[in-house]
Amino acid sequence: MQNPHLQIIIGSTRPGRAGAAVGGWFYDVAVKHDAFTVELLDLATIDLPLLNEPHHPRLGRYVHDHTKRWSATISAGDAFVFVVPEYNRGYNAATKNALDYLCKEWRRKPVGFVGYGGVAAGARSIQGLVPVVASLGMVAMARSVNVPTINRMITADGDFTPNPRLDQSAGELLDELSGWAIDLAVAGRAG
Ligand SMILES: Cc1cc2nc3c(=O)[nH]c(=O)nc-3n(C[C@H](O)[C@H](O)[C@H](O)COP(=O)(O)O)c2cc1C
Repeated sequence: MQNPHLQIIIGSTRPGRAGAAVGGWFYDVAVKHDAFTVELLDLATIDLPLLNEPHHPRLGRYVHDHTKRWSATISAGDAFVFVVPEYNRGYNAATKNALDYLCKEWRRKPVGFVGYGGVAAGARSIQGLVPVVASLGMVAMARSVNVPTINRMITADGDFTPNPRLDQSAGELLDELSGWAIDLAVAGRAG
């Protein structure tokens, strides 16, 4: 059986964001982990406008090319990791917008989170996203990666230096995701 395809989605679109460095670190860990083929997606370059489709996404009747491209991209994923900042005790708007665009493309696929922020380490953005992904029929992982006080782990040049505990926690999330990706693929073939 081919390795499942993992898409790591950088949620922050802000110039000077920490998200690019955190996403790059997680990408490197996922490639070394070796259970997936790995792709890094960046919402800043994907550049979706605020949801502007006239029909409910469950119908898949997309009229805009940006949505058709996003749909084709996400359809190719077997598992996802969202790299999300904490903004005002919640997730950032670009991440929610990217989720809202689609429906069946997300369904019955496992999803994990790498959250980062201040002392709460992105926990509140992840907690907010769990019911959102459940509503889309995704399976949220019990484990997450939580990066506290991101501003102390990142230099002005954007170099991110994680501690060994974060590398371990990234590996544990990837283990859980790969187990679910295989289980759901087998269940999908049986159904
Ligand atoms: C608009 C805004 C709101 C924020 N609110 C919170 C917050 O409620 N809790 C927190 O821990 N950090 C908060 N922060 C700090 C961010 O988590 C931190 O700056 C992080 O680097 C943002 O991610 P980004 O650089 O990838 O955009 C906030 C930052 C911004 C820009």
